[in-house]
Amino acid sequence: MSAEKDGSRPAASAQKIIVAIDGPSGAGKSTIARHLARHFGLLNLETGAMYRAFALKALREGLSLDESAGPESLAARTTIRLEPGEEHNRVLLDGEDVTALLRNQTVTDAASRVSVFPAIRAWMVRLQQEMGAAGGVVMEGRDIGTVVFPEAEVKIFLDAAPEVRGLRRYEQLGAKPEVQPAEVIREMRARDERDRNRADSPLRPAPDAVLVDSTHMTLEEAVRAAEEIVAAKLATV
Ligand code: DC
Repeated sequence: MSAEKDGSRPAASAQKIIVAIDGPSGAGKSTIARHLARHFGLLNLETGAMYRAFALKALREGLSLDESAGPESLAARTTIRLEPGEEHNRVLLDGEDVTALLRNQTVTDAASRVSVFPAIRAWMVRLQQEMGAAGGVVMEGRDIGTVVFPEAEVKIFLDAAPEVRGLRRYEQLGAKPEVQPAEVIREMRARDERDRNRADSPLRPAPDAVLVDSTHMTLEEAVRAAEEIVAAKLATV
């Protein structure tokens, strides 16, 4: 029985571990990270939300995202904090709760664009390392197992075929008549391409990550697979 169902406290070892979840968008990272956090009593930190919050500020200030100078000087006068939330983390941008403003297409695209700049990444990585330093976290993103916490006890790389990920994203958006599935898939591919091919910390599995391909799984099955990977690790620490 799970810790959340029988009300038991998670094992002491679970309270210290770092679980890194990386992979492209639509692979199920958020759902899985959220479940693992509840199940094992860990703090869930969504690093993509930090890039999104910074992108929102850059958009608000009308910065060009084609060069790094503007975003870099903006970073020097920006604070970003994550707090536990219901479905997603609560995100505080310079103290303002911007959680509800981060999931539209404009911010999504801008987040991918600002995340190519090395100085922005170095700043984010430092913040994320501080947030996870005490352990007891599930951290979700693109470079957690490779750059942020290469020594994480558990690393899971989640993937799925682009068409499957695109359709999941389309359904998450609430199947609006003005949005076509093909368009969602195309935008997602463009973003993936940028995330996988950037020079600094491209999206790729850490050599010691466990790969979970959810193309032919339900999200529920992928959640169970991830849960088993963490449980197996906990049994050895
Ligand atoms: O996970 P997400 O879709 O919220 O992430 C938004 C963008 O941020 C994504 O296109 C790539 C970038 N990102 C990143 O480069 N590194 C991370 N650790 C998390 C997100």
